[in-house]
Amino acid sequence: MRLKHQGSSIVVDTPAKLNLFLEVLQRREDGYHELETVMTAIDVFDTLRFSPTEDPSIRFQLSFDRRLKNTQVPVDERNICMQAARLMQGEYGVQQGVHIELHKRIPAQAGMGGGSSDAAAVLVALNHLWNLRLTSPELHGLASRLGSDVNFFIDAPGAALCRGRGEQVEFLATGSRWSFVVTIPDTGLSTAAVFQALSYQQPVLNVGDFLKSLDSGRTSGIAQMMYNRLEEPAARLSKQVDELLRVMRAASRLAPRMTGSGSACFALCHGPAEARSLAARLRVRLNRPVWVCNSCPSSSAA
Ligand code: C5P
Repeated sequence: MRLKHQGSSIVVDTPAKLNLFLEVLQRREDGYHELETVMTAIDVFDTLRFSPTEDPSIRFQLSFDRRLKNTQVPVDERNICMQAARLMQGEYGVQQGVHIELHKRIPAQAGMGGGSSDAAAVLVALNHLWNLRLTSPELHGLASRLGSDVNFFIDAPGAALCRGRGEQVEFLATGSRWSFVVTIPDTGLSTAAVFQALSYQQPVLNVGDFLKSLDSGRTSGIAQMMYNRLEEPAARLSKQVDELLRVMRAASRLAPRMTGSGSACFALCHGPAEARSLAARLRVRLNRPVWVCNSCPSSSAA
């Protein structure tokens, strides 16, 4: 994430993510699922402005990119930004407040980590604004209490292998910059509902094989090894995901995938030019927003 000071305010651009590989290993006693997933940050950003308030109140304001005009995101205590700010206030006895203005460009319920990225931005920014001096392990402790994907965004590692619920983040030094086309159906999907609809199938795929394809650096080899175990239950829950993947498969050179628990789908491309031309074809075929984007190297994401 990119953080800048503007007067007494802090402004943060925080990225979306795509899951290039996602395998579910098993259901755990606590109801969560044990995962192995490879995520990359992409250059689609939400922007958050944090301004100090005179009192301990937490105020929250939301605006949307024109492409997300029908998006449903709560603006009250249910919003993960509010939850993150309240968690910090409660945990460290903070007497200061904050006015958070969130401008959303990352679609919600899309599997692109928008809410998680916003929550990570709140933790990192309020650590500065409230002068809490929390260490990275302390921030990660708070992050894992807010959601399984929040930890990924705290250190903005570019690409990472995530295990456990998703909260154990291991940086991957790929050095590659990938181009993607991303699109969303009309409706989002609930993460909990998609995990619930999962039926276990063997064999469990080995993330090691996917990591080897990343090391090789060949785009077509990486695309061939991309996988998402949640794609099948998501496509069962939403015919639109199924349809979107079908249209993308017909239009793109490399096999498209769904990200996270959906409902956004993406195609890896051989470079920005191929991505732009695929996006143009998809815009003709789909009456939906289409993003052309690139993976963020760790330095620009951080
Ligand atoms: O952690 P997060 O709040 O993003 O998870 C939302 C829901 O998705 C969880 O309540 C759980 O039902 C499901 N989930 C899961 N296994 C994971 C992550 C999420 O079952 N590793």
